[in-house]
Amino acid sequence: MALTDRTAKTAHTHDKAGTHDKAGTHDKAGTHDKAGTHDKAGTHDKAGTHDKAGTHDKAGTHDKAGTHDKAGTVPGIVIPAGMLPSDGRFGSGPSKVRPEAIEQLVSHAGVLGTSHRQAPVKSLVRRLRSGLSDLFGLPQGYEVALGNGGTTAFWDIATFCLIDKKSQHLSFGEFSSKFAKAAQAAPWLEDPEVIESPVGTHPWAEATAAVDLYALTHNETSTGVMMDLQRPPGAAPDALVAVDGTSAAAGLRFGAQEVDAYYFAPQKGLASDGGLWIALMSPAAVSRAERIKASGRFVPSFLDLATALENSRLDQTYNTPALATIVLALAQLEWILEGGGLEFSCGRCDRSAEILYGWAEASSFATPFVAKPDERSHVVATIDFDPSVDAATVAKVLRANGIVDTEPYRRLGRNQLRVAMFPAIEPSDVEALTACIDFVVGSL
Ligand SMILES: Cc1ncc(COP(=O)(O)O)c(C=O)c1O
Repeated sequence: MALTDRTAKTAHTHDKAGTHDKAGTHDKAGTHDKAGTHDKAGTHDKAGTHDKAGTHDKAGTHDKAGTHDKAGTVPGIVIPAGMLPSDGRFGSGPSKVRPEAIEQLVSHAGVLGTSHRQAPVKSLVRRLRSGLSDLFGLPQGYEVALGNGGTTAFWDIATFCLIDKKSQHLSFGEFSSKFAKAAQAAPWLEDPEVIESPVGTHPWAEATAAVDLYALTHNETSTGVMMDLQRPPGAAPDALVAVDGTSAAAGLRFGAQEVDAYYFAPQKGLASDGGLWIALMSPAAVSRAERIKASGRFVPSFLDLATALENSRLDQTYNTPALATIVLALAQLEWILEGGGLEFSCGRCDRSAEILYGWAEASSFATPFVAKPDERSHVVATIDFDPSVDAATVAKVLRANGIVDTEPYRRLGRNQLRVAMFPAIEPSDVEALTACIDFVVGSL
C-alpha cells in the first residue's frame, strides 16, 4: 500500500477527533498542495525545472546569460534545454529526494509536529523498521535499531558499545578513516589495527586473534570505491563485523549473515534528510552491546546502544527525532519495496554505473578513477579528467546550468567529477549528464 494511502487513514482519524479542524493544520496542508509547494521545492521535475531549483534564480546567474562572466570564473556556456537531465541533483550526500517523496511529506503535514511517543509517529517508525528488515532479508533474530546523530554518532556508539577491547579498521578514504580515529582516541580500548590502502583501492581484513570487531566500509564515498562484504576468514567466532553502509545501503547488495552491525544514515540510498542513524544488528551485536553495558563501562546516555535498542523495540528513539527525516525515508523505502526490493534499487544503480563508466571508458578525456572494475562503486562514481580539461570548471558550468554537486570530494584534490548514482537518481538522467559533460567540454 502506498504511503499516502496509509497517511490518509491517520488524517481521517484526526478529522474525527476534530483536532485538525480546530488547529487548521489539515486545511493548511491542503492549501499547500493547491498552491503547488511541490513545484517550488521540486526543482527540475516540472517544466522549467532549472529555474525552480532555486539555485539559478537566487544566484541570478543562469537566467541572465553571461552573468557568470561578471564573476570571471565560469564560462557562460548554456546547455540546450533538451539535453538536460530531468533532475540535476547528482550530489553524493545528501541524495536527490524524489518529488513524490516530498508530496508524501506534504501529505503527512498532520503528523509533523506531533509526539514521537504516540501511535501515528510510532507506526511510521515501525513500518521503517519492518520495511528495512524485509528489504535486507534480515535473518531471524536480527534487529533494526535507530537513533539520532547520523553515522558520525554511530562511530562513537560503536566505540563505546560494540568494541570490546580491540578493533581492526580498513582505512581507504576519508570516511573509513574516521571510525579508526574514534577507536584510536578511546582510552578504554587497546590501539586498533588499521589496514590502509591507497585511495582508489580497498584493503582486505586480516584475521587476528586479538581483534573482537572488524570495521569495514561498504562504499567509500570520498573515493568511489565499493567492496564485497564477507566475514574475514579465520576471524574468532565471536568477533563482530561492523560495516559502514552509509552510501551503500539500498544501492549495493550484501548478505546479512556476513555482518553483525550494518549501519547507515538515511540521506543517501533512502533519499531522506540526515540526522538519523540506523543499524541492522545481529544477535551477537545485540548481546555484545548489552554485555558491555552490564560490565559497568561508562557510556554516555546519548551513545548507549542498549538504550537505543530498548527504544527501537518500542518504535521510538531515545530523544526526539526529525519526523520529516523518518517520513521521507519511509517514502523511499516503500517505493523501493513496491518496485521489487533490493533487486529493483540496486538494479537502477547498476544501470547508472554501466552508463557512466561505459561513457568514461569510451571518452577521449575522462577515465574511471578506480582502476579495478569490480571496485568501481555503483552508487558514487569518480571520473578523472585529462589535465587538458579542468574538471572544476566543468562542474561550475554544470552547476550554472542546474546540474549540481558533481564536484569531487574536497580533500581528494583530484581533477575529477564525482557523480552520485543513488537509487532515486534516474539512469536516464545519468545518461543525459554524460551528454551534458561532453557538450560542456566541447564548448570550453
Ligand atoms: C561512508 C560514509 N560514512 C559516514 C558518513 C557520515 O555520515 P553522517 O553525515 O550521517 O554522519 C558519510 C557521509 O557522507 C559517508 O558517506
